[in-house]
Amino acid sequence: MSNEQVIIFDTTLRDGEQSPGASMTKDEKLRIAKSLEMLKVDVIEAGFAMASPGDFDAVKSIAETIRDSTVCSLSRALEKDIDRAAEALKNAERGRIHTFIATSPIHMQHKLCMKPGDVVEQAVFAVRHARNLIDDVEFSCEDAGRSDLDFLCRIIEAAIDAGASTINIPDTVGYAVPHQFGNTIAQLIERIPNADKAVFSVHCHNDLGLAVANSLSAVVNGARQVECTINGLGERAGNASLEEIVMAIKTRKDELNVTTGINTAQIVPASRLVSGITGFPVQPNKAIVGANAFAHESGIHQDGVLKHRETYEIMKAEDVGWNTNRLTLGKLSGRNAFKTRMSELGITFADQEELNEAFSRFKVLADKKSDIFDDDLQALMSDVRNTNPAEKYQLVDLQAYSKIGAMPEAKLTINVDGEATEVRSQGDGPVDAIFKAIETIANSRARLALYNVSAITSGTDSQGDVSVRLEREGRIVNGSGADTDIVIASAKAYINALNLLESDHTKTNPQTGKV
Ligand code: KIV
Ligand code: ZN
Repeated sequence: MSNEQVIIFDTTLRDGEQSPGASMTKDEKLRIAKSLEMLKVDVIEAGFAMASPGDFDAVKSIAETIRDSTVCSLSRALEKDIDRAAEALKNAERGRIHTFIATSPIHMQHKLCMKPGDVVEQAVFAVRHARNLIDDVEFSCEDAGRSDLDFLCRIIEAAIDAGASTINIPDTVGYAVPHQFGNTIAQLIERIPNADKAVFSVHCHNDLGLAVANSLSAVVNGARQVECTINGLGERAGNASLEEIVMAIKTRKDELNVTTGINTAQIVPASRLVSGITGFPVQPNKAIVGANAFAHESGIHQDGVLKHRETYEIMKAEDVGWNTNRLTLGKLSGRNAFKTRMSELGITFADQEELNEAFSRFKVLADKKSDIFDDDLQALMSDVRNTNPAEKYQLVDLQAYSKIGAMPEAKLTINVDGEATEVRSQGDGPVDAIFKAIETIANSRARLALYNVSAITSGTDSQGDVSVRLEREGRIVNGSGADTDIVIASAKAYINALNLLESDHTKTNPQTGKV
């Protein structure tokens, strides 16, 4: 029986960030990168350094901070992209450049407007150039799922000869089905003469809901790297979800005959962090990390589980970290205990001022809520960083009034570019009244595409975590806010979304090349 390890390559910070509205700040990316390092992910794709100066900075600071995982930057098969990626990765303990070019007839003809021979030449140039700058180079054939097998063999052989040590086969549009995709991987490994000089990787999108199944079929047929994301985040329907890949490999080792190096107890904390930061809630019935994944509703199941857990459970909730949301701190905890737990969670403070601000908010929270859990601390930190004084809109004060039979009203004081403005409005409910009041001054012309409230922990004193998705002229942003009062959390989330709409967004999508 083989015990080979599958390399887990996480692309939450790159492909995941390409989900509409999932864009993250440098600080948020760093927090996720630290959580991925605690999860013991082998490779972290930190971003696409060429996309914007902000993306460059994020890749650079992740490369400077992360020591245990390889840090990777995506780059098109262009000299300027590769140079930028190498520059961002210069201080990495272990850095990787991931360069790609499309190989399907439809992409070569209509997107690249290039002949197949020129695509091979460009791929070889890109891999060689990258290898002159870094030792670890991955090459991807974009839209491999719809590419011709003979052409894939030709370009991959040339890329390996040029120095690529990982060859990635993306199913870019989620078109593959498991038996066919597995067969493609087997064929490539068998037919390419120098296939033994590279690790074969897969990167599956979930358009048909088959990303995990396709990835596992590829593993059965010889792939030894899987590209995936936390909560399955990613372009359109997302990527293969890391938690499902890892737990399938662990739980069905008897069939799959491989292992991963993942510390599975960190799965749920990582999932919550990504959901909190991006404002993408996890559906309750999502495998492994959904709130119902280990809950038993029916009496027969509950009875069975109580008698013998394995009657209805194939995994242990604690193995994926359901109990790691530790009760950490309380009202009497001092600044040192606070700082220590934050650093155990991978949170560091930019300066003394930020620590003071976070600690004073912690004290306010501890007055309202007797037990403070890790998730509360993560939410608190997001809140501190969302209320950066440099932002255009700041919530100063809020009063909301509801009474049976009366029209709900809200009165808010908001700083707009440093100037306090008072606004009032009525609405169908207090939240509606607040959003209308904010819009009387912001006049954003944005459409409210999603409003979601969830409890961060259990109990009625839990903080409410609110996500607000706004859409304006095709641009989507997700704002988030947390508070023990969900009405205040809603106002914070709406203001956060408005500030994101105000922020500069000139960043290039690596695949479409569009800003
Ligand atoms: O889906 C895809 O093809 C990608 C590549 C850039 C690897 O994300
Ligand atoms: Zn992708």
